[in-house]
Amino acid sequence: MIFAWELFWIVVVLVVFFGILPLATDLFGAPWAPTSRGIVREMLSMADIKPDEVVYDLGSGDGRIILTAARKFHAKSVGIDINPLWVFWARLAVTVLGLRHRTRVVWGNFFVQDLSRADVVTLYLVQATNDKLKSKLEEELRPGARVVSHVFPFNGWSPLKVDAKSHVYMYKMGESENHNPAREAQVDNDLNSRSSMK
Ligand SMILES: C[S@@+](CC[C@H](N)C(=O)[O-])C[C@H]1O[C@@H](n2cnc3c(N)ncnc32)[C@H](O)[C@@H]1O
Repeated sequence: MIFAWELFWIVVVLVVFFGILPLATDLFGAPWAPTSRGIVREMLSMADIKPDEVVYDLGSGDGRIILTAARKFHAKSVGIDINPLWVFWARLAVTVLGLRHRTRVVWGNFFVQDLSRADVVTLYLVQATNDKLKSKLEEELRPGARVVSHVFPFNGWSPLKVDAKSHVYMYKMGESENHNPAREAQVDNDLNSRSSMK
C-alpha cells in the first residue's frame, strides 16, 4: 500500500516535470530546443564580444550559450529561464565548470527582468515572442548593445549581419532601428529560401 502511494507521487512529479513544465514554457515564450554548438559560437562571434562584456541569453535552457560566452569569449554572462529544471541543470554546469565568478542563471520570466546591463542579448525563441520583446529591448538596451537571434528575425529592424546558412541575425541598438532596404532584403531572401525548402 505504501509502495503504491509512493509510486503515485513519483508519477505526479514526472508528469509535472516532463509534461506540464515544457507545455508551460511553450505558452510563456518558446518550447525547449537547443542551438547547436557550432551555431552558438557563430552567434557569439557575430556579436564581436569584448572581454568582460555582459551577455544575456533569454531562455537559457541548458546554459550552452552563457557557458560558451564565459569560457571562449571571456564575457560575463547571465541566463534567464522560466523552467526550474533547466535552471537547476545550468547552475550545476556553471558550478562544475568553475564559472560562478562570471556566470549566473536566473529563474524567472525574461519579460519582467531588467535587461539594461546587457551588452549583448542572445535569443532562440519563436517569432511571436521576438515581436513581443522588441519594444522592451528598445527601451532597456543602451545604444551599441547587440542582439543576436537564431532563426527568428526582429521585424522592422535592419540586421548588421545575416548568416543565411545558420539563420542568425545580428542587430545593433541605435543603428538597426534605421531602415536599410538592402539588409532587410537579405532577411527576406533567407525567410523565402527557408519556406521554399519546406
Ligand atoms: C528554444 S530554447 C533555447 C535554449 C537556449 N537559449 C539555446 O539556444 O540553446 C527556449 C528556452 O526559453 C525558455 N523560455 C520560454 N519562455 C520563457 C520566458 N518567458 N522566460 C524565460 N525563459 C523562457 C524555455 O524554457 C527554453 O529553455
